[in-house]
Amino acid sequence: MTRPRSAPERETPTPTPLDMRRTGFGPAPEAAAVRARDGIVRVPTPFGPSAWLLTRHADVRRMLGDTENFINGWGPEDLATGDGPERDPRQLSGDRSGNLLALDPPDHNRLRRMLTPEFTVRRIRRLEPRITQIVDEHLDALERHGPPADLVAQYALPIPSLVICELLGVPPADRDEFQQRTSRQLDTTVPEDDQVELSRQSLAYMTELVDRARQDPGDDLIGTLIREHDEKLTNAELVGVANLLLVAGHETTSNMLGLGTLALLRHPDQLELVRDDPETVPGAVEELMRWLSVVNGGSPRMATRDVEVDGATVRCGDLVLFNLPAANRDPALADDPERFDITRTTNQHLGFGHGIHHCIGAPLARMEMKIAFPALLRRFPGLRLAVPDDEVDFATNQAIYGLKRLPVAW
Ligand code: HEM
Repeated sequence: MTRPRSAPERETPTPTPLDMRRTGFGPAPEAAAVRARDGIVRVPTPFGPSAWLLTRHADVRRMLGDTENFINGWGPEDLATGDGPERDPRQLSGDRSGNLLALDPPDHNRLRRMLTPEFTVRRIRRLEPRITQIVDEHLDALERHGPPADLVAQYALPIPSLVICELLGVPPADRDEFQQRTSRQLDTTVPEDDQVELSRQSLAYMTELVDRARQDPGDDLIGTLIREHDEKLTNAELVGVANLLLVAGHETTSNMLGLGTLALLRHPDQLELVRDDPETVPGAVEELMRWLSVVNGGSPRMATRDVEVDGATVRCGDLVLFNLPAANRDPALADDPERFDITRTTNQHLGFGHGIHHCIGAPLARMEMKIAFPALLRRFPGLRLAVPDDEVDFATNQAIYGLKRLPVAW
């Protein structure tokens, strides 16, 4: 069966979303241009078939909230038309067990319902003293190290990794190794072969962790899942969950801490507010989420029937991608959307996604940021960049945006 062609004017040559390069804090210029022009465009993708790219806040929000018409865990066989993309991105991510982002209802609901109690604001608050302690230990280490220091390697990367250790119940004796491995996994200078080996080691470690927790379930997330849902969860699912939490929760939060510090250094008046007035901190975290949008776009979705978006017909079987940085700076969302303003009173950003796949770790990420930003600024009131402003190394061309390093002095 041949799929009807989409309107030719929307077939303008556009790079794949991964090649849409961001250069500063905002969206890639191509994505912002699509938002202003048609809202939606046809783009090539790294997995073979082309896709639609959504860029407007209202469209992205509607699509993410509409699980009737758009699904995640798709494959060619899922669609009655048999007209899905030729290659399945699941091949890129391997086994789907435990990977919420690759599941649709009812499997998604079943697993998410088991995890939700572990991520409520109340439950996450139990981690607050440990997060504060981890942050303080890293500030002490920075002080001992003295300036200049790389804030990415010495603060932004290790803190979220240790918080995930805390969540998953990685025993203290294993933490140094765990944290070094996860930081190396995110290091873009590590060669691909070593990366494959690191992923293998990481998965082997998660398997060991689950095996140990089956023998003696602790008070942590894996232990609690085993105690409360023992027979309902396979080992593969538990390993998948542990791995997803690491993959989804480490780089995202690390990049927010690194990029967020740079954003504050470039806006000294707002930095002062965050440092000196604790009441501004929650608003600052939301504005950093909106303004930085470190996740460029979440999992690819697929339309399950024909849907109109901005006058274009997204056909049943079409792949749909979305650009969060463009959506989060949509003039329809915020007044003067390019302005970084931590005192905004409403902020309906999509930085944590929306709908059934809305970030389950959002309460944890928010807590980490609310502790880590003001603590850093208060410990080092004279914090400044240790390199000229235009020499800061942005890590471009990645699904998650951030900095390679952030040399600072104080
Ligand atoms: C989902 C962003 C931190 C775990 C998502 C999604 C986004 C996101 C945009 C939705 C993706 C989509 O719909 O395709 C972020 C950002 C973070 C962060 C910007 C840091 C500031 C965390 C943390 C954890 C976590 C700390 C856990 C430890 C997850 C999981 C999902 C998810 C498990 C999938 C939920 C589902 O499919 O039901 N995140 N995240 N995230 N996030 Fe986060």
